[in-house]
Amino acid sequence: MSSQPPSTSLPRQFGRYLLYDQIGEGGMAQIYLGREQTDLGGERKVVVKHILPLFAESAELARLLVDEAKLAAQLTHGNVVKVYDLGREQGTLYIAMEYVEGFDLRDLLKSCSKVKVPLPVEFSLLIVTETLRALDYAHRKRGDDGRPLGIVHRDVSPSNVLVSFDGQIKLCDFGIARAIGIDQMLPDEAIQGKAGYMSPEAAAGKSVSAQSDVFAVGVILWELLAGRRLYRSEPGRPPTLEQARSAVIPDLPRRGLPQEEVLLGVVGRALCRQPEQRYASAREMLRELESYVAQSGMLASPLKLGQWLTDHFGAEILERRRAREVSSRSHAQAVEHHSELDSLAGTAVPLGPPASTSLAEFGPHSMEPVAHSIQQPPSGASLAPAASSSRKPALIVVALLVVVVVVLALSRAAL
Ligand SMILES: Nc1ncnc2c1ncn2[C@@H]1O[C@H](COP(=O)(O)OP(=O)(O)OP(=O)(O)O)[C@@H](O)[C@H]1O
Ligand SMILES: [Mg+2]
Repeated sequence: MSSQPPSTSLPRQFGRYLLYDQIGEGGMAQIYLGREQTDLGGERKVVVKHILPLFAESAELARLLVDEAKLAAQLTHGNVVKVYDLGREQGTLYIAMEYVEGFDLRDLLKSCSKVKVPLPVEFSLLIVTETLRALDYAHRKRGDDGRPLGIVHRDVSPSNVLVSFDGQIKLCDFGIARAIGIDQMLPDEAIQGKAGYMSPEAAAGKSVSAQSDVFAVGVILWELLAGRRLYRSEPGRPPTLEQARSAVIPDLPRRGLPQEEVLLGVVGRALCRQPEQRYASAREMLRELESYVAQSGMLASPLKLGQWLTDHFGAEILERRRAREVSSRSHAQAVEHHSELDSLAGTAVPLGPPASTSLAEFGPHSMEPVAHSIQQPPSGASLAPAASSSRKPALIVVALLVVVVVVLALSRAAL
């Protein structure tokens, strides 16, 4: 094992993934965009989250993270970001998942306020109902033995609600909050950042349930309707965690929406301080919200949301796409360069490790696979180019000898 710190340059090979862009850094991970070669020779884009050393170095934490990711990997639903793989590579604990090309809800709201275009209520309701669909599915998910898996998200917040450019809504990071024990492990600043969507029981360090996720969705809905944060972090106000513990919910301003009382009733019920007074499940809240959407005629679809995003953020979408394309292209060029070198040496090794990376980094390492195990490049493949290139001078000498022998033979025959 190499004692050198892992390389951070891009593009770089990381197990079965070729990472070519860093797309974010959250409270617990660095987020990379990469490509994975599938067994059938195809390629797919993936997000690879490198869990920060603070969380990954503890054996207990790593075990919890693996357990939670194994549960999350069992979730397959249109509104849930698919977890493909989890493991340890080059000393880094990572989770690989589906890439959702788009905004996260926090980004989207920032973009809306930058261009002073409010998100229409229809789309807010769509985002919340789709998030509830994801939670309803996950909360009720059963294992192969038919027993409930007992999945609770624990960190439902706008940054974990992804909105693709074509209007699909997907919830990510299921269960990770439990593994990293957000209430015990995070630095104070990070806890305050996450506290804005915590249920009062979570903020008080009590046990959480599916109804805690319902509360978090209630906060998102409240904020989408109010156009501001529920718990403000301002001088003179108590820290956000304390506000979350007391869960004092101001009345929402009236907006003149059709049958507004019904909608306000849904928000109020989701945000009850006592879990037993809240909706008993995400499904119950989803039913009431859907019936409000139908009665009020505020129907929307991913198709319409996608169109709205293109109409209002077309330039930003293009810019983001172009930035990704550029890094993707530099990745492709890097790969091309490697295969050119490989074929010059006599053997093409698709997607092999970059020339500057020592093979020791790809040597044996502890892996805890969830969905797949990392495929090591076949050991012969990396040796093949060196072996064939060292054979070349020998072949030239043999060829020269043959020519000399033939010339000698011919001259003798002529004599
Ligand atoms: N699967 C994904 N597809 C596309 N973008 C993603 C994906 N996962 C994360 N991101 C982007 O990376 C950002 C950072 O993600 P990360 O989960 O590390 O931090 P966070 O969501 O801000 O905080 P938290 O620790 O609460 O999850 C996200 O907000 C999102 O914009
Ligand atoms: Mg996240």
